Amino acid sequence: MVGNWKMNANHLEAIQMVQKLSYRLDPGDYDRVDVVVAPAFTALRSVQIVIEQDHMPIGLGAQDVHWEPEGAYTGEVSAPMLAKLGVGHVIVGHSERRQMFGETDETVNRKTRAVLDTGMVPVVCVGENLGEREEGRAEEVVIGQVRAGLNRNLGIGSVVVAYEPVWAIGTGRNALPDDAGVMAEMIRETMRDMADTDVAEGTRLLYGGSVNAGNIKDFMAKRHVDGALVGGASLDPDSFAAIVRYFR
Ligand code: PGA
Repeated sequence: MVGNWKMNANHLEAIQMVQKLSYRLDPGDYDRVDVVVAPAFTALRSVQIVIEQDHMPIGLGAQDVHWEPEGAYTGEVSAPMLAKLGVGHVIVGHSERRQMFGETDETVNRKTRAVLDTGMVPVVCVGENLGEREEGRAEEVVIGQVRAGLNRNLGIGSVVVAYEPVWAIGTGRNALPDDAGVMAEMIRETMRDMADTDVAEGTRLLYGGSVNAGNIKDFMAKRHVDGALVGGASLDPDSFAAIVRYFR
């Protein structure tokens, strides 16, 4: 379960959020579910210190990265910088970045490579928008994004793929669990085709888009959905903890 905090919470608020989350989870929860929080860049160092000092079994994630390891890229943050901060997962190609910040399949591919090269796990986001779904092109779009993002079988055994239909993100309008299950199966099929069955079965597939404590169980019941990328509901430690404990 990955909590994507987006552009919310300054570093002081982020410290409180991760502390509250950890109070609400116990060792059994972490045995069953890997938990990752992805704060804004400005809060990464603070959250890292809290996680390390208190030995919290919570993973640290980043929301974006640049593909070059260093250089004249004003305002950007590199994969080696994130790795040095103890970041284990990096969200790549989130639809908000694709829509608002010019992210393309090509940059997703380069960023994914940079994250893998630095020993971290990319959480590669794919998903169709409303128009594409209404035109019946959802599957084609998503498969295209998976193939382009993981072009040349890029680290295909070491990535997490998040299926996030754009129309479901932050809208309160989640995908039907059945549809998410079908799409996840298709993504797995695509990975089988690109690599092999072991890689396909071993890849974690997440659903994202208006996940909350009330609907998480229905998504997790789908054979090919292994977890969730949670935005809004991850900002409230109570609801994110309830999502992590979906099996209770
Ligand atoms: P949401 O966001 O849960 O607020 O819909 C999901 C995401 O953008 O990862």
